[in-house]
Amino acid sequence: MNQHLQNILDILQQIESISDDQKALINKSLKDADKELVILAFKLDRTEKVKRTTAILLEETIEELEQKRKAIEETNTALTKSLNELKAAQAQLIQSEKMASLGELTAGIAHEIQNPLNFVNNFSEVNVELIAELKEELEAGNLEDIKAIADDIAINEEKILQHGKRADAIVKGMLQHSRSSNGQKELTDINVLCDEYLRLAFHGIRAKDNSFNADFKTEFDASLPEINIVPQDIGRVLLNLINNAFYAVAEKQRNLSDLDSNYEPTVIFSTKSLGESIEVSVKDNANGIPEEIKNKIFQPFFTTKPTGEGTGLGLSLAYDIVKAHGGEIKIETKENEGTTFIIQLPI
Ligand SMILES: Nc1ncnc2c1ncn2[C@@H]1O[C@H](COP(=O)(O)OP(=O)(O)OP(=O)(O)O)[C@@H](O)[C@H]1O
Ligand SMILES: [Mg+2]
Repeated sequence: MNQHLQNILDILQQIESISDDQKALINKSLKDADKELVILAFKLDRTEKVKRTTAILLEETIEELEQKRKAIEETNTALTKSLNELKAAQAQLIQSEKMASLGELTAGIAHEIQNPLNFVNNFSEVNVELIAELKEELEAGNLEDIKAIADDIAINEEKILQHGKRADAIVKGMLQHSRSSNGQKELTDINVLCDEYLRLAFHGIRAKDNSFNADFKTEFDASLPEINIVPQDIGRVLLNLINNAFYAVAEKQRNLSDLDSNYEPTVIFSTKSLGESIEVSVKDNANGIPEEIKNKIFQPFFTTKPTGEGTGLGLSLAYDIVKAHGGEIKIETKENEGTTFIIQLPI
């Protein structure tokens, strides 16, 4: 029994005025109190133990959490690093896509320059002969003939100049395409831009693949006002739409058996004035875009071309460029009948 309780019991036992019954009662009460005290002490001890184990567990949990936090931090750093690397890779891909489109243009440009160059060479040769004749007539003193020959030379010179200027314009256009766009908007005649890129793209494909054969038509709205655009950027959009269209019709033709040889691959390029805006559309009669990929074609890197043939960046870049001009790109497509890409640009 608890020592203090025992002392109280001893003192009470000695008091004679307390009856034996009362003493027995007191004895019992004190023993009960002692029991309760023992139980309480036991409980307290147990609580103390639980407290200590809990503290240890808590410490362990905190340590574990700290380790997890560190792991998350490391993962985060690694993720940020990969994200930066991805961004750098994407920027590089965009640059190489641009270079690739310049490559596609090169063959077309060579073809385009060849034409005026032929004119310049031919007319120069003719003029050399005419000048020799002129000298002969000078000696003979035939004034009439001299005048006629001089007139011919003048006409030829004009043609030489005209074709020289054409070649000059083509080279300037090429330089403009290769220059990284400075984002400067310029008043541009969309019809001229469309015509130039269409011919460059067409001859570019022809030069790469001489079995390629497609008809292209232009329906240009002559009343189109000049609009403020970044010509290199819109040029890239047009180039991609034209290349996509020619690719699609060529692909359809390749896949058709000779039995269906009445298929005529055709691409129609048209412009239209809508008052507040202008519309450029590229229409092909290929197979159309299947419903299940229609909402994917503007995603960067989405392509159905064989590996190595397309980056899948064409339409995603086109979308960004048109958006940056405050415009819109729409698609109308019908399976087996063809696709029309429509660009609307505000005036
Ligand atoms: N006129 C079209 N007819 C049918 N499918 C098209 C047409 N234009 C685009 N597509 C589909 O959209 C996809 C994405 O086009 P996008 O121009 O973005 O990339 P790409 O042409 O595949 O590659 P890149 O432009 O780098 O050569 C194409 O792979 C093709 O499946
Ligand atoms: Mg493309």
